[in-house]
Amino acid sequence: MNIVTDIRAWQSIRENCATKKIGFIPTMGYLHAGHASLCERARRENDITVVSIFVNPPQFNQSKDFNLYPRAIEEDIALLTSHRVDYLFLPDEQTMYHDHYEVQVTENALSKELEGAYRPGHFNGVLTIVLKLLNIIQPLHAYFGEKDYQQFMLIKKMVSALFLPLHIIGCETIRAEDGLALSSRNVRLNAMQREKAAHFPKLLHSDLSPAKITEQLQSLGFKVDYIVEQWGRRLGAVWLDEIRLIDNMLLRTIR
Ligand code: PAF
Repeated sequence: MNIVTDIRAWQSIRENCATKKIGFIPTMGYLHAGHASLCERARRENDITVVSIFVNPPQFNQSKDFNLYPRAIEEDIALLTSHRVDYLFLPDEQTMYHDHYEVQVTENALSKELEGAYRPGHFNGVLTIVLKLLNIIQPLHAYFGEKDYQQFMLIKKMVSALFLPLHIIGCETIRAEDGLALSSRNVRLNAMQREKAAHFPKLLHSDLSPAKITEQLQSLGFKVDYIVEQWGRRLGAVWLDEIRLIDNMLLRTIR
């Protein structure tokens, strides 16, 4: 796997593979089996697979959350190499934000709901970095996990609104054996929290109403931001102490 940190260097590689199909997976690192499955899918559907790792400051609501976000670049490189990813794009903050965060992408409707209501500005940060990365990498396909369903919808909406010449592909959430959706943040759960966390996907998958699910989660000690049904899905966000978990599932898989 080639590691590219410089935009010019990537652009000259890109020119030399102008006719190849490029599959791209943007990430914030601390990669897990969910990312690995995106890499496998990208490899099947493209000639060249590119992954980026960049922990994007403006999408974090608190600098504490940004600082606590887990990082493990050596392990990430090993995982990407074992999944035969061709290129890792690994830029630094100055490269991505030489404009000092002065130019941003804003969506004014969907981005204000659910996650956007609880994490103001979060989706500005996500859309801005994703647009920058798509403009640099210029893939044919870009792959996103459906765990962050609202993010996936917003990226599709941005691509359509700005006429970006690529396809956004959503991939099913990969789960641990007990049902917890894989997430880089799960590593912050201690053993007791990790055991308790499994109640969240179990209840979200149950045939109880959102109000009942909320009640049961609260009685188990979760703080519930929301459990709602929309976009044909049931979506939820909860806190276990300091750690926030989100998840969602297709409604027709429940009833
Ligand atoms: O889902 C993520 O890991 C991030 O939000 C993304 C899409 C890589 C943008 O930083």
